[in-house]
Amino acid sequence: MSLNFKSFIKIRFLLAIFIPTFLLFFGIIIYMPKDKNAQAAYILNPDNHDIVELGKSVYVQNCASCHGVKLEGQKDWMLRLPDGLMPAPPHDETGHTWHHSDKYLFMITKYGIEDIVGQKYANNMPAYKNILSDKEIIAVLSYIKSTWPNEVKKIHDQINDREKSM
Ligand code: HEC
Repeated sequence: MSLNFKSFIKIRFLLAIFIPTFLLFFGIIIYMPKDKNAQAAYILNPDNHDIVELGKSVYVQNCASCHGVKLEGQKDWMLRLPDGLMPAPPHDETGHTWHHSDKYLFMITKYGIEDIVGQKYANNMPAYKNILSDKEIIAVLSYIKSTWPNEVKKIHDQINDREKSM
């Protein structure tokens, strides 16, 4: 009787350790590839010719009207418009697009600025989640990055690395 009770306690003890370990282990295995994909989903690829070409046509059709055919932004882009909103900034190296990580640029383009800052913020930047696919968003941002001088691209890579290590 006492032996049975002891082995019952032992089994319970083992189960209490094994089951959570088992679940954790498989949880990690199942979760890991998803997490990797989620990261890969917004990594820009300015060195891939096909992606950049696709991005260029997406840019011309969707972004150039505000951000400029040559990515130069709207005139006097640092000054508020009469309605109090900001004009579209340039996407070339004279703007501040390159100050932001791949992830931030992707999220802004897909969901719009308000969604990303998490509060009401009247602005003229459309959200593209119902207009462009993720692939097209990556492509257009990759095209934008491909136009930056090497030095700026390098700094932008470092901004991404810093964000990854946080
Ligand atoms: C209707 C005009 C308009 C169009 C079209 C437009 N944008 Fe914008 N975009 C803006 C404005 C205006 C801002 C600045 C908003 C603010 O700061 O108040 C902005 C800001 C941004 C920013 C943030 C830049 C930064 O440095 O913070 C990104 C990234 C961006 N746009 C990407 C795009 C992309 C990519 C496209 C095309 C797929 C696009 N935009 C099309 C008006 C536009």
